[in-house]
Parts: sequence; structure tokens; C-alpha cells
Amino acid sequence: MKTLFARAATPAGTKKDDATARRLSRRDFLQRAVPGMLAAGALVAAFPAFSLPVAASEGAAMLTLYFSHSGNTRTIATFIHEHTGGDMVELVPAAPYPADYDAVVEQARQELRNNARPRVTTELPRLAEYQTLFIGFPNWWGTMPMPLFTWLEQHDLAGKTIAPFCTHGGGGFGRSLRDLRRLCPRARLLDGLEIRGGRVAEARPAVEAWLRQLGF
Ligand SMILES: Cc1cc2nc3c(=O)[nH]c(=O)nc-3n(C[C@H](O)[C@H](O)[C@H](O)COP(=O)(O)O)c2cc1C
Repeated sequence: MKTLFARAATPAGTKKDDATARRLSRRDFLQRAVPGMLAAGALVAAFPAFSLPVAASEGAAMLTLYFSHSGNTRTIATFIHEHTGGDMVELVPAAPYPADYDAVVEQARQELRNNARPRVTTELPRLAEYQTLFIGFPNWWGTMPMPLFTWLEQHDLAGKTIAPFCTHGGGGFGRSLRDLRRLCPRARLLDGLEIRGGRVAEARPAVEAWLRQLGF
């Protein structure tokens, strides 16, 4: 089978919304990937996110850091940033992913299979100042895109608080929270937020409810 995830909702790097394409994409994804998603669900059940009653650290610098290929995660990052303030930074791979959906799905599959670490160009000179990081990504093949693995391995987030968020086509966080915790063993992980890619446009209330629940 060439792809699991049907076609792209939007070309890479654009914020353009195409609800119809995303609905199709989601339905196709569900039809074709349910077995994998069930396995991912079992993993999530086995490795749930920490459920700490949280801790808005007043006055501490906040960063919204995200990766987004077709714009869904960027939309959620923007909602978070508008609510919390602080800085917002997009994680950019040195070699851009192809805009073509089938091509990016295949490339991501290969990268996961090879446990690749694609180079990332994003510089964060103020990282030491941030106490709280909202870290967002799309679910790619059940986990984070590999550039995020690269970045997390290159930066020590010990002592920081991480609030993870993801957009997805039906698989939620998959096994990404387990991977995130493994890569940041000394960070404090808050409850995460998962939003379906096709629902990001109307997700602001859910985002704000999540932030309030976390104390932000
Ligand atoms: C390479 C690739 C792999 C994907 N793998 C999954 C997956 O395993 N599970 C899932 O639910 N959705 C999967 N999706 C769908 C995306 O998670 C979803 O469309 C997401 O909202 C895209 O976010 P973005 O617009 O910020 O890039 C995949 C999409 C792509 C492009």
C-alpha cells in the first residue's frame, strides 16, 4: 500500500483551509488505518500522560514551539500563543518536506523506519529563559515528526514544564507522549491536547479550556 493517510488537506507551508479535502482525508485515514490506531491506543493506555493539576508559573517566560507541515498544528499554536503570550517559534527542518502528500507520507515513513534525525535550522537563543514550553506537532506515523526528535535530543529541557499538543487524522497522540517523555526525562510533562486536523479551525474554545485547566 502506497500511503495510509489519503491526500493532503493543504500544500506545505500554507494556512489555507480546505474542509472538504480534510473530511475526505480523515475518512480515508480512518478506514485504512484503524488497526494501527488501535495498537496506538493500546500504547497510549499503557503510557498515559502525567496528570498533574498544574502550575501556571506567573511571570515566567513561555514558548510555543511547533512543527507543522500543512498548517493545522500552526493554527493551534497560534491559538495558544494568543492566549498565553510569550514567544512562538516554528521548528523548521533544514531540508523542507515535499508539498506532495504521498511524497511526504513516504519520506516520513522512511525516516521513522531508519530512526533518522533530519537536521533542524531553528535557533532558540533564549531557550534558557523559558520555564514553560508548549510543544506541538502533527502525528506522523503514530509519533512526532523526526525533526522534533532531532531538536529534543539537542536541547536539555531538564527542569522545564512541557505542555504537549498535537493534531492528527484519528490516531491522537499515538505513542508520541511516550517518546517525548523518553527524550525529556527530567522535564515536567503536563496533560496534553489532541485536536483532529479537520477541526482545528473551530478548536479555539477547546484550546482555551485546556489552557485554563492547566492554570494558564
Ligand atoms: C507523513 C504523515 C503521516 C501521518 N501519520 C498519521 C498517523 O499515524 N496518525 C494520524 O492520526 N494521522 C496521521 N497523519 C495526519 C496528520 O497528523 C494530520 O493531518 C495533522 O493535522 C497534520 O498537521 P499539520 O497540518 O500541522 O502538518 C499523517 C500525516 C502525514 C503528512
